[in-house]
Amino acid sequence: MGLRRPADERSGRPPVRGWRVLVTGASSGIGEATARVLAERGARLAVAGRDRAALAAVAEATAALAIPGDLTVPGTAQATVAAAADALGGLDLLVSNAGVGWTGPFAEMLTSDIDTLLDLNLRAAAHLVHAALPHLRAAAASGGCAPLRSRRCQPGRVVLIGSIAGEVGVPGEAWYSATKAGLAGFAAALRSELRPEGVAVSLVIPGVVDTRFLERRALPYRRRRPRPLPAAAVATALLDAVEHGSDEALVPAWLTIPARLHGALPGLYRLAARLAGA
Ligand SMILES: NC(=O)c1ccc[n+]([C@@H]2O[C@H](COP(=O)([O-])OP(=O)(O)OC[C@H]3O[C@@H](n4cnc5c(N)ncnc54)[C@H](OP(=O)(O)O)[C@@H]3O)[C@@H](O)[C@H]2O)c1
Repeated sequence: MGLRRPADERSGRPPVRGWRVLVTGASSGIGEATARVLAERGARLAVAGRDRAALAAVAEATAALAIPGDLTVPGTAQATVAAAADALGGLDLLVSNAGVGWTGPFAEMLTSDIDTLLDLNLRAAAHLVHAALPHLRAAAASGGCAPLRSRRCQPGRVVLIGSIAGEVGVPGEAWYSATKAGLAGFAAALRSELRPEGVAVSLVIPGVVDTRFLERRALPYRRRRPRPLPAAAVATALLDAVEHGSDEALVPAWLTIPARLHGALPGLYRLAARLAGA
């Protein structure tokens, strides 16, 4: 399926061309695919991750500044945003993507793993957004699309990477689901709070994606269905959400059905999930 037509296609200028973008978790998976797709669209990038060699390879392929660092270490989120904004001369878009999962019975989770998921998936995301906001506000104020009248193609945007686990709560991923549900609540409230200033917030909600994320969890992914998506599919959906000013993007789109069913009729959702063996 092709991308919908970008909002300012008539001008022949792709919306993200020249945008100053920070992508976290860009050394692999969804973040790497996102950096590549944004670079192809002409964005100017800073990429962050821990693995220096992998990050350097992505930075070289996308003409980006590499900012290595562990986002669970206090101060790293702020330093990462500062380094990106200094090098790029500001920020138009923050993609807060770095995240880690955990599978298995919650009772068997080490408290150190509970802390790591909280620190990376939620706390680091909040610190990144907090540090980026002055830059995103400045970008929105000087951007091409007037706040309130059009949210499309507007510089001054945060993209958070959630998860279907945060929408429906997946057994065996209780704490991961909680961190991603927290991110969804953060996105919803922040979107309303920042709308008058012209800063927009998108939540991208992937299902199962074929990345190292699945290997890094305590238990491997063994289910036949749903089949893991390629990371590039999430990156394409993310770009589409940015170019069209979407608040939310579920990837694949059919995940909208279980997510909405869970929200509207949780009892029926639980029954359907039990019957499906989920
Ligand atoms: N794959 C899925 O099925 C799936 C589904 C739904 C949502 N998601 C979400 O998608 C996002 C990206 O995951 P992915 O699937 O692309 O997995 P991935 O390939 O494992 O990528 C995770 C990225 O996060 C970075 N990261 C991990 N710990 C970090 C830390 N302490 N400090 C800084 N960076 C750190 C990794 O960097 P290093 O490798 O350099 O450490 C890597 O670049 C995550 O938020 C995840 O929750 C994934």
